[in-house]
Amino acid sequence: MRKIFITVYVVSIALIMSGCNQFDSLVNKIPFMNQSDGGHGFKENEEIVENDEPSVEEEEIASDILTLEAQFFNEIEEVNGKLTIQNPLNILALVNKEFSLPEQYAPEDLVRPKVPFSFGDLDIEKSYMRKEAAEHLELLFKAAEKANIEIFAVSGYRSYDRQVDVFAAKASQVGEQAAATVVAVPGFSEHQTGLAMDISSRSINLELIEKFEETKEGIWLADNAYKFGFILRYPKGKEDITGYQYEPWHFRYVGIEVAKLMYEKDLTLEEYFNIVEKI
Ligand code: DAL
Ligand code: ZN
Repeated sequence: MRKIFITVYVVSIALIMSGCNQFDSLVNKIPFMNQSDGGHGFKENEEIVENDEPSVEEEEIASDILTLEAQFFNEIEEVNGKLTIQNPLNILALVNKEFSLPEQYAPEDLVRPKVPFSFGDLDIEKSYMRKEAAEHLELLFKAAEKANIEIFAVSGYRSYDRQVDVFAAKASQVGEQAAATVVAVPGFSEHQTGLAMDISSRSINLELIEKFEETKEGIWLADNAYKFGFILRYPKGKEDITGYQYEPWHFRYVGIEVAKLMYEKDLTLEEYFNIVEKI
């Protein structure tokens, strides 16, 4: 009980310091809160005051539970030794090193968003996204333009077959193990959902490189993409959680409500599903 209270207390301080005035939930269930800065810029050993009596505010925080309807959780079956998602149309599908998509899965509502692409007007697979994600990408790009930010879509939908080629190409350069930290093993790429888009700018020659984080375009996207339903899927400092290197260019559509919540609470999709309660 004392341990739980200390955790709740620590989180309260973290929230006050981060200016975030709402916090949902079961903070004692959040494993990453034990990291040195808890994802909120808070250092673990600062001002831990032991007190057996939680305040009303602290009790409210502990009882404010994040919930999500069951349909948004992965339905998993083991297929050929792989934990395979059975409801891949789910807009919140958690595709990562643990959960793959069925090899033959291709979304039926792929469209080509009306945004500038790094490869111009070529009508190729990677210029497609699922309709809802494409519409929100167009809104994101319009907002960027209004803010004098020039960005280019680089890579969206990636079929299983193309994942095979992309992974093989990387593995031939750096070996399979190193390749798997930057490119998903076939079947495990979020790009197959049709909900992800890699984005770049002229300032870094339309490349997908870490330097994007320092560009005004990369900074603007990191600060604003959530307003249009996109999350920065592989953030810096969370490589152990996502399983991938930091990718300031990779944005994943999850819908505005969830994207906003994840942005405000500094959560990856893995962390979100760790704390959210199925209803
Ligand atoms: N670069 C991301 C992890 C992918 O290959 O899907
Ligand atoms: Zn990507």
